Amino acid sequence: MLAYLNGEYLDRARAAVSVEDRGFLFGDGVYEVTRAHDGRLFEAERHLRRLERGLAALQIARPRELESGSLIEISERLLRDDGLTSGDATVYLQITRGVAPRTHHFPPAGTSPTVYLSASSLAVPDDTRARGAAVILTTDLRWERCDLKTINLLPNIVGKQQAVAAGAFEAVFVRGDVVTEGASTNVFAVLDGELRTHPATHRILPGITRDVVLEIARESERELGVPVREVSLTSVELRRASEVFLTSTTNDVMPVTCIDGAVVGNGTPGPIARRLHAALVARMTGTAAAAR
Ligand SMILES: Cc1ncc(COP(=O)(O)O)c(C=O)c1O
Repeated sequence: MLAYLNGEYLDRARAAVSVEDRGFLFGDGVYEVTRAHDGRLFEAERHLRRLERGLAALQIARPRELESGSLIEISERLLRDDGLTSGDATVYLQITRGVAPRTHHFPPAGTSPTVYLSASSLAVPDDTRARGAAVILTTDLRWERCDLKTINLLPNIVGKQQAVAAGAFEAVFVRGDVVTEGASTNVFAVLDGELRTHPATHRILPGITRDVVLEIARESERELGVPVREVSLTSVELRRASEVFLTSTTNDVMPVTCIDGAVVGNGTPGPIARRLHAALVARMTGTAAAAR
């Protein structure tokens, strides 16, 4: 398996960064995970826009790969050369503020950002989807810029580990009494006949899958029979929702059937989640058949 690192394609096992890389020392960087199906990237432009927004917000220099528009080409070459041109895969991309002697403040102007990309095959969790996933609720301990996709993921890691230790699929964060999002997913719920999700504020990551699912849900509001509202839910509301589901690049639409041990709705994946999942897969694979 290959890695792209600062202009070179290397054997991934041998690719290495300096111990003075600010990603290693401070978690000073941003990342993206983009889905690929049959070697084709899904919603690459949206991922690039989110990446550019994160770099600008954190004042990390734009790497030359971004200036030359070659990130998509690099991703496609990694998928090709790693033999990932059929089925599901992801491309991981990370940009850090670069290598410099350790200071909290930014390094000297002209320090080159570190650019790393790699591709991996993806085992889509269809078995879990068929049954529905269990989640736990946990306190959202994160900072006030959850809208930035930074490599600082400690609260997410700790939350996910709590979920794994409890035999659950995901940890859902609650701030005060507001359900924000999952450790690596966005959260949707059908409550009182409406499809709701937390608005895209600084409290959540604006997930690309969330965006696409919202688009699909709005386009098919009449067929789905539920209006869409970007309004947050309390944990009490989440527990009495008739359907709950998660969205992310690696999970697509994942129905939730259990919250902290209590059954959601009738305990099986709900019709809205199933239909949105089918429509999302149809978009990704470019097939209408998957939507049936
Ligand atoms: C905190 C968080 N929220 C939501 C998501 C889902 O985002 P996307 O749909 O872009 O994968 C992720 C993905 O990793 C995440 O880390």
